[in-house]
Amino acid sequence: MSTLKLAAMLLGVTTAPLSAAPDANLLFQENCASCHAETRLGGTGPALIPQTLKRLKGDAIMEAIRDGRPATQMPVFSDSLTEDEIKALADLVKTPLDAIPPWGAEEIAASLELNPDYVPADKPQFSSDPMNLFIVVETGDHHASLLDGDSFERLTRFPTPFAVHGGPKFTSDGRYVFFMSRDGWVMKYDIWSMQEVGRVRGALNSRNIALSSDNKHIALANYLPHTLVILSADDLSVEKIIDIKGSDGKTSRVSAVYQAPPRNSFIMALKDIPEVWEVFYGEDPPFYGFVHDYRDEGPPEQTDPFPVRRIKLDDYLDDFFFDQKYEFLMGAARNAKNGQVVDLVIGRKISDLALSGLPHLGSGISWNWQGKTVMATPHLRDSKISVIDMKDWSVVKTIPTKGPGFFMRSHEKSRYAWTDVFFGPNKDLMHIIDKQTLEIVRTLKPAPGKTAAHIEFDRDGSHAILSIWENDGAIVIYNAETFEEVKRIPMSKPSGKYNVWNKITFSEGTSH
Ligand code: HEC
Repeated sequence: MSTLKLAAMLLGVTTAPLSAAPDANLLFQENCASCHAETRLGGTGPALIPQTLKRLKGDAIMEAIRDGRPATQMPVFSDSLTEDEIKALADLVKTPLDAIPPWGAEEIAASLELNPDYVPADKPQFSSDPMNLFIVVETGDHHASLLDGDSFERLTRFPTPFAVHGGPKFTSDGRYVFFMSRDGWVMKYDIWSMQEVGRVRGALNSRNIALSSDNKHIALANYLPHTLVILSADDLSVEKIIDIKGSDGKTSRVSAVYQAPPRNSFIMALKDIPEVWEVFYGEDPPFYGFVHDYRDEGPPEQTDPFPVRRIKLDDYLDDFFFDQKYEFLMGAARNAKNGQVVDLVIGRKISDLALSGLPHLGSGISWNWQGKTVMATPHLRDSKISVIDMKDWSVVKTIPTKGPGFFMRSHEKSRYAWTDVFFGPNKDLMHIIDKQTLEIVRTLKPAPGKTAAHIEFDRDGSHAILSIWENDGAIVIYNAETFEEVKRIPMSKPSGKYNVWNKITFSEGTSH
């Protein structure tokens, strides 16, 4: 008998009264806390809080409890709990926590797990071109695959933290890659030796990471707590925790952090306050003078290694696209009608963007069209692609699609941009757009009824790789010129693919 059950008996409390509703808290402590923690913030099992469970639709939470998760430690509870008890537990885990326990430098440091078997290699332990590798994130069973980008052979497959989110980030020599999970774990992996270096829990619920252009710092954007955490990319130690608090004292979640290499800075999109924050690093940050708004804050302090600049806006913006020089930021709010353009040099809004239907600017790509630089973005709500002139911010073309999309990709050497239909009945379609005529020239249906999503090109732009976004999914490799299928490799929900070269060179055909 568990101590809790014993304590409950001694106190005269029965654990399963026949008439009353089940006591979800007690059931949780007895059956679940050993793996998911008393606080519900995760242990062996993932955090069970609304922020992470939102992605489980319909009855998926009850199903997970009732049937367990085969081939994982999550047990079956249908034989020990009643339907009512399972329902009560599902409702409990969907309820926000009353209080968020502290997660500061001490807690982060204590979570560090270095791989005791890790042996660094001074050169790649394989013959593939180290600049044309792909990392494929497989969220179906929380693994990642390392793929040769010439032969499309898998070099290795390794476990990641539970529910990796956002793109992994490569160091500029292509040697290390960093992953981040919804529960705030950051994992460092050595591609050359094909081994995990270690992992640390930088927060309780996180959105994404960025890596500094000098490869020294990782910035972790968090929902819980309301912080940006800067970790050493070398040993994963904490370098700084920045509390996100607006000028009115209100704290905010960080929706995303972006790396802005030419500025030696990280740029943050904030969910709950109408500001954009920029954090500088490096010996002599070129934009140091912007850290303080001289008009109301006086001269800059020069002591902080990570000074913060705040740009105040008149609207909330939480999804960004940057021009190649990082002079301009195009931002959209998930709840607003229009976007805005912010000039990062002068630090204020310079234009509105006439974009309805929730543009997904974070997936935007840019190219040259009739002598102009244009950017194109899918929309999360409307069935269209918008193409925008990056000089006067006007919409030059709206391309109708078969449904709202999520990802869009191209490559400098390819004539085409690929964009998925991510939502709705046509989620199994992938459109191919001619970047010069701005017309859809082909629509593929690689696996009828199954979501086709997220394209990534190889280093020279000759192949486009698509995901069948299902637990028994696959990646499909296409000739990027003829659209012929070249190869199909089964994968477990391959949520994203990331080419080392395209990422480290900040290719304009891919998002960062
Ligand atoms: C022995 C450890 C263990 C116990 C006990 C346990 N779980 Fe889990 N649980 C896990 C693991 C590990 C996973 C992740 C499984 C996977 O990889 O999909 C998980 C996953 C889940 C998920 C899906 C989470 C997601 O984000 O996909 C839910 C919901 C869940 N558990 C609820 C519960 C509840 C409620 C209880 C108690 C009735 C419980 N678990 C008991 C280990 C455990």
